[in-house]
Amino acid sequence: MASKISLTRYLVEHQRVHAVIPSDLRLLLEVVARACKSISHAVNKGELGGVLGATETENIQGEVQKKLDIIANEVLIEANEWGGHLAAMASEEMEGIYVVPHRYPKGEYLLMFDPLDGSSNVDVNVSIGTIFSVLRKPDNGAGVSEADFMQPGCKQVAAGYCVYGPQTTLVLTVGDGVAMFTLDREQGSFVLTEEDVKIPPDTKEFAINMSNMRHWDTPIKTYVDECLAGVEGPRGKDFNMRWIASMVADVHRILTRGGVFLYPWDKREPGKPGKLRLMYEANPMGWLVEQAGGAASTGRERILDVVPTQLHQRVSVILGSKNEVEHIVALHAGTPAP
Ligand code: AHG
Ligand code: MN
Ligand code: MN
Repeated sequence: MASKISLTRYLVEHQRVHAVIPSDLRLLLEVVARACKSISHAVNKGELGGVLGATETENIQGEVQKKLDIIANEVLIEANEWGGHLAAMASEEMEGIYVVPHRYPKGEYLLMFDPLDGSSNVDVNVSIGTIFSVLRKPDNGAGVSEADFMQPGCKQVAAGYCVYGPQTTLVLTVGDGVAMFTLDREQGSFVLTEEDVKIPPDTKEFAINMSNMRHWDTPIKTYVDECLAGVEGPRGKDFNMRWIASMVADVHRILTRGGVFLYPWDKREPGKPGKLRLMYEANPMGWLVEQAGGAASTGRERILDVVPTQLHQRVSVILGSKNEVEHIVALHAGTPAP
């Protein structure tokens, strides 16, 4: 029987044999995986670990923080701050960047994360996850500032997520395709379970929060109307719909069997370009999807080309099966941007 390939072995081979990643990036990814393992254990304990429910604080986005949002954020910071591989971190749950304290050595990478994605699902025992993105600090001397993070998603050197569902699965790209690792709880390690993940280019499944329909822009309304018209409509086929309300779980389904995910700009907050955050949600997910042969767009621009100006910047997100995303982008052509 072929021996199982652990995440450690996969990363070592990527460093040594394929020379795709340097050793300090390998260390960084191992540490992030270890933190995800620890978050997975906390998630699994649920009520028994006293981790469910909300706190009395709000994050910078004005969202009430769940206990697990805070716990996951602390786990990721504590795991990553001392290893010498990072210059700074940024998180959905922190207003500014977290510079590695002076007592620890500094590295050349910047880590961004959504420590707990799908907070509304925490207390109801539905899949949630952690999303992360890694950039290299620009070569601009000592010190690190928020400006160093303002790089488009196409500059990412690693990205991934860990979904805490019926299984805990870590999904990773370092720019040479997408690999999936399932947590073996008895061994305590992530084991390679899927390599060279590919998203089918066509699909009959879409994911969007339909309750926002009245707030959408015309191209999104047109697209969903086409899907709902089914076999008699312009698409000539019946569509199925899913909406888990955890981006990690929706994207995981798309990486597994195809589909399209939309969280577009809508009129509720006209000044903001959508709900999801560019740096630690859209960019890592967009790169994973592209690496699996799919596409990721705002409707008018490739997500990975958006140059950020703020850490918590929002963006309109349309990602998944390539032909479907291209169809939605075509519906935007020639229409005025909101
Ligand atoms: P987070 O829990 O990190 O704030 O992210 C939640 C996001 C995303 O995971 C999901 O797709 C979306 O919010 C769901 O939003 P609605 O509740 O508006 O459907
Ligand atoms: Mn999120
Ligand atoms: Mn979150």
